[in-house]
Amino acid sequence: MERNKAYILGLLHDIGRKFGARHLGHVYDGYKYMLELGFTQVAKICLTHSFGIQDIKTYIGKFDILESEQLELEIALNSVKYDDYDRLIQICDALGAAEGIVDIEARMQDVKNRYGNYPQEKWDKNFELKKYFENLANKDIYEIVDK
Ligand SMILES: [Fe+2]
Repeated sequence: MERNKAYILGLLHDIGRKFGARHLGHVYDGYKYMLELGFTQVAKICLTHSFGIQDIKTYIGKFDILESEQLELEIALNSVKYDDYDRLIQICDALGAAEGIVDIEARMQDVKNRYGNYPQEKWDKNFELKKYFENLANKDIYEIVDK
């Protein structure tokens, strides 16, 4: 993987928040904004970062977009093929909180408490992603991110 590319994708994955604090809306806004500017790889990350499980129904939070936009997102999400950049930003998102790097399980529990649910397959997927990068790096994930 290219270090700088991964870093830039990480920086821009939530660019949709520029248009306001929305839930699924920030995914949609970021995706559309980056597409508009011609940054297709960033657009893909904006789209995939909330979906360890490649299924729009697994989104945790409000579906605060129009039905037509949701359909557009769903078609886009279903048509992409995940690569390690998608997976990397997904696991980093699971590790990162406002206060810094946190324990993945504690983070998911916190989300579960706040939203009242956390799909089991999404929960399991985050541990699978953790293991995936630990195997690639031959290191504990918290050692990799210097927690
Ligand atoms: Fe996000």
